[in-house]
Amino acid sequence: MTDQLIPTRRAFPADDPIFALNAEAQARKATGESILNATVGALLDESGQLVVLDSVMDLWRELTALEVAPYAPIAGDPTFLNALVQRHWPSLRSAGAACATPGGSGAISLSMRNFLEAGQKVLTTAPYWGPYATMAAENGLSLVTAPWPEANQALDAAAWTGALQALLRDQGRALIILNDPCHNPTGRSLSVADRRAFADLLRTCSALGPITLLLDFAYLDYTRDPAFVAAALADYAVLGAEGRILVGASMSLSKSMTLYGARCGALAFPWCTDPALQAALTQSCRGTWSNCAKAPQALLLRLAKEGKAQERLAAEHRHWSDLLSARATALDAALVEAAMPPVHWMGGFFVCVSAPDPEAVCTQLKAQGVFTVPLPEGLRVGLCGLRASEAPRFAQALRQVLSVR
Ligand SMILES: Cc1ncc(COP(=O)(O)O)c(C=O)c1O
Repeated sequence: MTDQLIPTRRAFPADDPIFALNAEAQARKATGESILNATVGALLDESGQLVVLDSVMDLWRELTALEVAPYAPIAGDPTFLNALVQRHWPSLRSAGAACATPGGSGAISLSMRNFLEAGQKVLTTAPYWGPYATMAAENGLSLVTAPWPEANQALDAAAWTGALQALLRDQGRALIILNDPCHNPTGRSLSVADRRAFADLLRTCSALGPITLLLDFAYLDYTRDPAFVAAALADYAVLGAEGRILVGASMSLSKSMTLYGARCGALAFPWCTDPALQAALTQSCRGTWSNCAKAPQALLLRLAKEGKAQERLAAEHRHWSDLLSARATALDAALVEAAMPPVHWMGGFFVCVSAPDPEAVCTQLKAQGVFTVPLPEGLRVGLCGLRASEAPRFAQALRQVLSVR
């Protein structure tokens, strides 16, 4: 044990659990075993290759030395921030208080640091993207959850109200992280009615103390229904513009541009121009990563100016969304065939298949060469890495494991 490491930093797992599962799947595959690997978190094509968007790569190759080499401004290039916000809300003229971040992760982490005191709790959905808990811990915080609605069921508004009221009473403020639309890991978005019920309960609770709603937009471009996503964003814009709730967005170029490794994104509060909020964000950037990579910011600016590139990108998003949709349809058919409920995917890279004792089920599936990620609520299945033709094998393996339990 390294004595220099402080005691509170000594008991972490050597590897991220999802990366460890993926490594195990790869190692077994390399020995010639037939492996179904649904742990992957990046979009793979039908031959298992990483999907990289051609329209984006063509822009990347055009970048000049001066679009790559210099430092970007500490809070990010303001024109980049505006362009990124306008991809989500085309009618907005300004990003408001905003900064560039290394991916959506940077935006989420930075929000935790600025809207809660150490020791306080972040409210998010159950299930949630696992790194929220890691980021909370790294910022001296913890998570509390309220349920994400099951397919075809309404939001449990009472549970959300109760959780929010308790936080406002206990800590005098609340930060909610909501990965909607295209939720990871369920693959479902809030329905129109749920979204409105959610906004209403936020409005009511806002009388008890300041609430920040951080919308985590990681997968919006991969959806069965782009019009549904646009309508959701319009609803959130109404909530933000009212000003009772501080509404912000964590935006990422990782999935939307397949620039996972370029580490670019932004945190923006488009309806807030408070100089104190802007100063706090800039301070956090300077004190954490100083400034973010310039090249992906420059790329987004080129994209914003080039209509043809935008059309090509939209067509690529449609193509890959259709592929994800076909995979989800195949999975639902296979689950129903094996007498299990369908998952009703609406967007994103994942779905969550419910199972009792997910850790044990996951281990038993692994014995059959089927790799998924266990969550408290079930198994996370990465549609992004699962071929439609593999769906029957997954469903049959799961049926078999569940039937012998
Ligand atoms: C729900 C969710 N939010 C945010 C992110 C952030 O990704 P990045 O930091 O690469 O932008 C991810 C990535 O997997 C995610 O699944």
